[in-house]
Amino acid sequence: MNEMDRPPVVLEARGISKYFGAVTALEDVSFSLRKGEVIGIVGDNGAGKSTLMKVLSGLYRPSEGKLLFEGNEVNFSTPSDARRLGIEMVYQDLALAENMNIAENIFLGTEPRRTFLGGLISFYDHRQARARASEHLETLKIHVKSVEQAVGDLSGGQRQAVAIARATAFDAKVVIMDEPTAALAIREVGKVLDLIKDLKKRGISVILISHRMDDIFYVCDRVLALFHGKNFAQADLGDTSRSEVIGWIMGTLNHKGTLAHDRL
Ligand SMILES: Nc1ncnc2c1ncn2[C@@H]1O[C@H](COP(=O)(O)OP(=O)(O)OP(=O)(O)O)[C@@H](O)[C@H]1O
Ligand SMILES: [Mg+2]
Repeated sequence: MNEMDRPPVVLEARGISKYFGAVTALEDVSFSLRKGEVIGIVGDNGAGKSTLMKVLSGLYRPSEGKLLFEGNEVNFSTPSDARRLGIEMVYQDLALAENMNIAENIFLGTEPRRTFLGGLISFYDHRQARARASEHLETLKIHVKSVEQAVGDLSGGQRQAVAIARATAFDAKVVIMDEPTAALAIREVGKVLDLIKDLKKRGISVILISHRMDDIFYVCDRVLALFHGKNFAQADLGDTSRSEVIGWIMGTLNHKGTLAHDRL
């Protein structure tokens, strides 16, 4: 594609470093994400993937470097600063409230409320929350028995779907997912990946951290590898291979060898 025809960059990181005391988690990392693009982030355990995402979503402040959102420099003090711009993160541990139902989880912290006496009294509006949650799940083609089911009773895949529904309930522009498929059964993995494809169709950009080459090669447009907290390599999916990307994770370029599981 001609550079001019590519969609605009929504989120960009320039020269990000992050130190935790004597530990350098990230060193001079740069990357950019375009509208509707799905980028896969790979790297060995401890490579800095989660730390980079926490910087992008406002949970950590970078020690050095800057972030740009739609071309303007931004400084996030908290994740709500990032959320206000439409950057949502689905955490590795999901962070759903087990004892609440699906609708309540989707609107957690931003519940539809009915107010009386000029805002002096307000109630959580159950009926509106149910209706809006059902409608939103329908748009995402997520099927649940009822939005009043407790999240604690859902399967891993259903929970992941609810977490994604929560992340996209309010005009998300960028959704960051940290290993969303790691703990899922095969059938549920497919559903989560199809959800990502759906977000892309709606013009939402997705950053997907995954150790699974199947995930990366099924949904991503581009893959970027971190190694020991630094940029190591990146390519459009069509210009690379699983074997090469696995090489990047191990810190080698131009890796062409067969993989252990290819020989099974
Ligand atoms: N809060 C913290 N305090 C101190 N060190 C940290 C902190 N968070 C991360 N680190 C260190 O920063 C480095 C990068 O960690 P990070 O969690 O970003 O890796 P990762 O690529 O997400 O790994 P994994 O694939 O295991 O999830 C590691 O060496 C880790 O020990
Ligand atoms: Mg991680």
